[in-house]
Amino acid sequence: MTHPVSVRNAVPKGVVVLFAITAVVITATLALGSTVCATDASASCPNWPGCYVGRLTPVDATQPWVEFIHRVISASVGLFAVASVIAGIVYRRVDRLLVVLPIVALVGALISGVFGMMTIKWGINSVEASFDLLAAIISMGAMWRAFFIAHSPRSPWIWNERTKLGMGAVVFLVIGHFFAVQVAGSGSLTRCMGWAMFVRGAGDGPLAGWVAQQTSSGIGMLLAIAFLVARWGRRTGWDTLCAVLVVIEIVTGVLIAVNGSNHGLGTLHAVPAVLILCLTMTATMRSARG
Ligand code: HEM
Repeated sequence: MTHPVSVRNAVPKGVVVLFAITAVVITATLALGSTVCATDASASCPNWPGCYVGRLTPVDATQPWVEFIHRVISASVGLFAVASVIAGIVYRRVDRLLVVLPIVALVGALISGVFGMMTIKWGINSVEASFDLLAAIISMGAMWRAFFIAHSPRSPWIWNERTKLGMGAVVFLVIGHFFAVQVAGSGSLTRCMGWAMFVRGAGDGPLAGWVAQQTSSGIGMLLAIAFLVARWGRRTGWDTLCAVLVVIEIVTGVLIAVNGSNHGLGTLHAVPAVLILCLTMTATMRSARG
């Protein structure tokens, strides 16, 4: 169903670009957050909002800078998301989702920000850490959906085979990420964003919970690869990038499972997992356009 030109171009390019920038900044915040986790940089900036009491910026060391950059970028999420909500209010009559989705993205980022502050100040338990991550993932998904709607307002969501495959991949991957911190040992890489490696990290458990989490992540991985194969014939540059990231994710997973991890390898395993989730979400949204 093609909408009249008036609807298709009802949202100015500037707003479409604003929504895209906001979605990219949120995605970058998740990737940086998973780097903080993979490099054990969590406590390296012991104060909040400045890195140390009486000093805003970190000393010259990698870990405090990783954590501090995550904070600064996450603060900018707030600015872009508020601007997106205001733009959404202005164009709400074109499509109500243009204001609803940026609000969801802003609230998700605020929840993650508060949990982030709590992580520094008091520490958070594994259930809070799971909801921190879920709020961040919902924020990312909502803002990318807002971008696609701003780009083609009132476009229907079409459930075809590829859309169902993509949505299945996203759901199982997110369930896997959500429960990872619950079954991870305190120093285990399992707690950070990453595809299942099917080898128990130090202290991972209980066994049944770990198996269930790895199974959900494993099903998500297979569906994400099947979805990639299904769209390969009409692939875009994003799909090729996703394929490269899947290879990196699997290779680093095998290397960590066989030889153990270090901060570099851990980061090379965490960041692609965030980007694959993002690219699987956006490819599902593209597929839903029919
Ligand atoms: C000032 C605000 C923030 C602070 C102080 C902060 C702090 C942190 C810290 C210390 C970690 C590492 C946790 C660990 O090692 O397990 C982390 C991870 C993370 N943060 Fe933030 N954060 C903030 C805002 C945000 C925002 C706004 C988002 C999302 C929109 C976000 C998303 C994430 C994600 C996805 C992770 C990785 C979790 C994982 O790999 O399991 N953070 N953050």
